[in-house]
Amino acid sequence: MQTEIIILAIETSCDDTSCAVLKNRKVLSNVVSSQQIHRMHGGVVPELAGRDHLRYLIPVIDEAIKLSGTEPKQFSAIAVTRGPGLPGSLQVGVNAAKSLSMAWQKPLIAVHHMRAHILSLFIEKEGQQPPEFPFLCLTVSGGHTQLVLAENPYDFKIIGKTLDDAVGEAFDKAAKLLGLPYPGGPIIDRLAQSGDENKFSFSPYYGKGLDFSFSGIKTSFLYFLKENTQHNQNFIRDHLPDICASYQKHLVGELMKVTRRALESYPLKNLVISGGVSANSKLRKEFSLLEKEGIRVFFPLPEFCTDNAAMVGITAYFDYQRGFFSDLNIAPLPRWNVFM
Ligand code: KG4
Ligand code: ZN
Repeated sequence: MQTEIIILAIETSCDDTSCAVLKNRKVLSNVVSSQQIHRMHGGVVPELAGRDHLRYLIPVIDEAIKLSGTEPKQFSAIAVTRGPGLPGSLQVGVNAAKSLSMAWQKPLIAVHHMRAHILSLFIEKEGQQPPEFPFLCLTVSGGHTQLVLAENPYDFKIIGKTLDDAVGEAFDKAAKLLGLPYPGGPIIDRLAQSGDENKFSFSPYYGKGLDFSFSGIKTSFLYFLKENTQHNQNFIRDHLPDICASYQKHLVGELMKVTRRALESYPLKNLVISGGVSANSKLRKEFSLLEKEGIRVFFPLPEFCTDNAAMVGITAYFDYQRGFFSDLNIAPLPRWNVFM
């Protein structure tokens, strides 16, 4: 087997244009250009996202190659996110990867975005071991909220998921109602630092299984704001940090409640948290407390929480070793639900 696997990876599934170069599990470069155009729209505008990927992908690829100190002839394969994601955004990355694969005569590896979020934990970190299989994984992003049983890098099973909105959406939509720009999750996190998290409470989801639901919580947040601004039109301005801290505590509590149930049904000793919301400081604090109960909890490095191509590269590193290559005639799979 080849001892040095060098992968050029591309990620364009949503609003981050990214390219990375990895040598085995080590990241040589990881360039992420986060689109700013959506900030004022309160959410990602698909047409604008596709257009911005077209504009920035080639310069981002150029920079990633330059920073990595490698040359195309050294690449073992070209990897790209095939789905799930926005159709127009995925198309830009898939087309670019196919063209490079053809031009440089390198195999193509199509990657599942949610599997890549989970495998981001295997990116080499100095002095730290990756999680041991099998493990339970809570994946929390802007589009997904899932509990996944990971047997090995190729065998993942979804055991719980959101019935409606993702938790990242619950953060972003609440932020929009508060008049904050997109993406609201990191801003709520920051404002919550100086707030009283016990000031306000919200109603929970009463389901008993391993699924989540956030749409009711979002609606209750809307009514909470309506009611309070009726009495005090400056309510948001007067209480912003307390509102953020209380709402954030509530969302993290919902994630913890269902994850605990999953740990009762599947008593595994390793728990991985991945996806954009895994950057949240309250979530990190609460889930780290599980260590006291004998569960090892793993979080991605901050730069690999939100969308990035390094996680696509590490996934392709595993697939390359199994010879899992893709045809050059593949199309994006915007609704790719099962893990592959
Ligand atoms: O994984 P990701 O970059 O994209 C998707 O695959 O969806 O996740 C983006 C989501 C957004 O909803 C964003 O608000 C949320 O991750 N996010 C956070 C934080 N950082 C990013 N949510 C809460 N706290 C954060 N610190
Ligand atoms: Zn993502």
